[in-house]
Amino acid sequence: MKIGTPKETFAGERRVAMTPESATALQKLGHTCLIETGAGLEAGFSDATYKDVGVEVVKTAAALWKAADVVAKMRAPDATEMKRLREGQTLISFFSPVADEKKMAAAAEKGATVVAMEMIPRISRAQKMDALSSMANIAGYRAVIEAGNNFGRFFTGQITAAGKVPPAKVLVVGAGVAGLAAIGTSTSLGAITYAFDVRPEVAEQVESMGAEFVYLDFEEEQTDGAATGGYASVSSPEFREAQLAKFRELAPEVDIVITTALIPNREAPELWTEDMVAAMKPGSVVVDLAAEKGGNCKLTVMDEKIVTENGVTIIGYTDFPSRMATQSSNLYATNIRHLMTDLTPEKDGVINHNMEDDVIRGATIAHAKEVTFPPPRPKVAAIAAAPKKDKPKELTPTEKRDLETAAFKAQTRNQVTLLGAGAALVLGVGLIPGMPASFMQHFIVFVLSVFIGFQVIWNVAHSLHTPLMAVTNAISSIIILGALIQVGSSSMLITLLGGLGILMASVNIFGGFLVTRRMLAMFQKS
Ligand code: NAI
Repeated sequence: MKIGTPKETFAGERRVAMTPESATALQKLGHTCLIETGAGLEAGFSDATYKDVGVEVVKTAAALWKAADVVAKMRAPDATEMKRLREGQTLISFFSPVADEKKMAAAAEKGATVVAMEMIPRISRAQKMDALSSMANIAGYRAVIEAGNNFGRFFTGQITAAGKVPPAKVLVVGAGVAGLAAIGTSTSLGAITYAFDVRPEVAEQVESMGAEFVYLDFEEEQTDGAATGGYASVSSPEFREAQLAKFRELAPEVDIVITTALIPNREAPELWTEDMVAAMKPGSVVVDLAAEKGGNCKLTVMDEKIVTENGVTIIGYTDFPSRMATQSSNLYATNIRHLMTDLTPEKDGVINHNMEDDVIRGATIAHAKEVTFPPPRPKVAAIAAAPKKDKPKELTPTEKRDLETAAFKAQTRNQVTLLGAGAALVLGVGLIPGMPASFMQHFIVFVLSVFIGFQVIWNVAHSLHTPLMAVTNAISSIIILGALIQVGSSSMLITLLGGLGILMASVNIFGGFLVTRRMLAMFQKS
């Protein structure tokens, strides 16, 4: 089949749905690739780079739409593109089936098949095709970079000869895909990062990324992500009030707020209110990723950057992925390539649009002259389905002390038991008639070494076991002493073996310490 990608027509759109790399993979599936001239230019891919991998460069969009059996693009088709869509053709792109019902019906009436990329279900098998996630990931990253660009200070704290700089405090509201990417970027830049989400199951993920999860003093039975396809459900008014109260408390403290909260097919909830913006310090920045759906902040102006009277910058851009066009195009084109792999099971260049397949069915909104939206619920559970965990209970100082004492007592008991067992073993072996005294000496040293070794290793974190092995390996090269003593022997053979022993043990010693040093460096915070 011929897969073609036209130049995007939406004003300011810089991304492209096919890259030279994805085209190479598509050709391996037996397809032929076409691209409209200049389609990849703004994403950093010239016509020549496509030609080099055997892609045919077509002069006009009209010619491309005419020739292609499958049209892969980013944005939903405009009116002209809709006219070009024809019977038997497959269109793969973002489509907004909810907002664009008429277009969807028109495509179905024409007998075209439409695969809407935002409809790829959020199940593990489909992650590689999940274009919403790839774009949200980029948006989350870029939101932090954009915030930094508009923030007058460092993210990380510094103590310099010229003075002390406190670290920036960043709050991320909504820890979905974009939120987690923002958290990762913010913590890696050294900011103190807080995050909030209505889904309690993400707290662990947030904390594992070095941020602090903001807990509310509120008990509510929340629907877990699995029941809603990996998305949050609407929270009660009481919960919302508790959430807003917490945000009001945080507003004067935080320097940067990145809001990403969204429940699919709804307007974005208003979570960062006018009074919170008013309470923020001058120079603070709000990046509202939900701007396209009305914004999480009341003052957000879609596609614009504004500065409030109290000096807070509010950014409402909706084209963050397009601002990183090369990266976005690479990821999106890879998503499409994986989708095409599923659509071409025999790798023979023939598309098998299998409507029994959860992923293909879920994303197809028009097929065989029928509107096939909304799809039935996927048969498999959503990836966000995580076992519910209770919020960790805050311990009082007395409870903490009691816990520590109990742990110490248990440890001491273990050690005494171990020592007792060792003594009994030595005694038992010593009582065996005819046991030579020299053996007993070595045996006692052996038992004590086991005990000391056990004590040394027992409390080492699992993640440090590999560097520990490397260093013990180096220490075990104490045998070098034996080789050193023997090397001066009058026998040539023994001298040779001694020299060899010294060489091998040296490699072990230096190599062991070198590996340990490198490994420990990976755990050190710069
Ligand atoms: P997602 O669905 O993965 O994450 C949204 C998160 O918000 C979920 O974890 C959900 O539990 C949470 N949430 C919902 N209601 C909440 C509330 N009341 N309080 C706190 N958290 C709440 O969505 P994803 O993919 O991370 O996208 C996030 C936003 O970014 C969306 O609005 C999306 O349209 C937008 N986006 C913006 C782009 C831009 O250029 N501005 C580009 C890509 C995505």
